[in-house]
Amino acid sequence: MTQDELKKTVGWAALKYVRYGTIVGVGTGTTTAYFIDALGSVKHQIKGVVSSSEASSAKLKSLGIPLFELNDVDSLDIYVDGADEINGRMQMIKGGGAALTREKIIAAVARKFICIVDASKLVDVLGTFPLPIEVIPMARAWVASELIRLGGMPVYRQGVTTDNGNIIIDAYNLPILDAVAVEEQINNIPGVVTVGLFARHGADMALISSEQGVKIIS
Ligand code: 5RP
Repeated sequence: MTQDELKKTVGWAALKYVRYGTIVGVGTGTTTAYFIDALGSVKHQIKGVVSSSEASSAKLKSLGIPLFELNDVDSLDIYVDGADEINGRMQMIKGGGAALTREKIIAAVARKFICIVDASKLVDVLGTFPLPIEVIPMARAWVASELIRLGGMPVYRQGVTTDNGNIIIDAYNLPILDAVAVEEQINNIPGVVTVGLFARHGADMALISSEQGVKIIS
């Protein structure tokens, strides 16, 4: 199976956790795009969705799935999203698609975060994938210098503006042994909007697709 087929398999596998009449939190990325396709097949059985990006919203709209603003919703049953890396403790690196801030907000609101990945995303130690950080544009140089101080190599993601009007810095080679501590350290740098480490609040369940099928970790 190709990686794309594995993404499709796990995207559709998440449909099983969507409950009748609920509002579903929806992430961003190529794996989540398959979950959105799957949601389209049950659109008359759910109340609607809250979306984490303009890209996902456009796809959801094209399928006729009702969209809600997060502020107009009392609660979210589940949040379904991909990841760039996930470890055995369900901590993740996210933000490859630059949607990390809205993803983290919706994940915080939802009762259950279901992470959908193919097995290539499963790692022992987070950090091979460069860590995405959303930054206020005027703080770019300052945040970069602080990331160097922490042992990372910051690279400005050229030509990318987030849905919130900010920039992305990708931190390479950052030692992420204590992911909760690193998340807190980077979050505390003035100018950082969100760091793409989802460690303090990781996934509640992971669906991981491989040639052997879809494995569930919870
Ligand atoms: C977007 C994300 C995505 O979930 C992550 O980048 C994985 O994407 P894909 O499913 O395309 O591999 O965090 O900000």
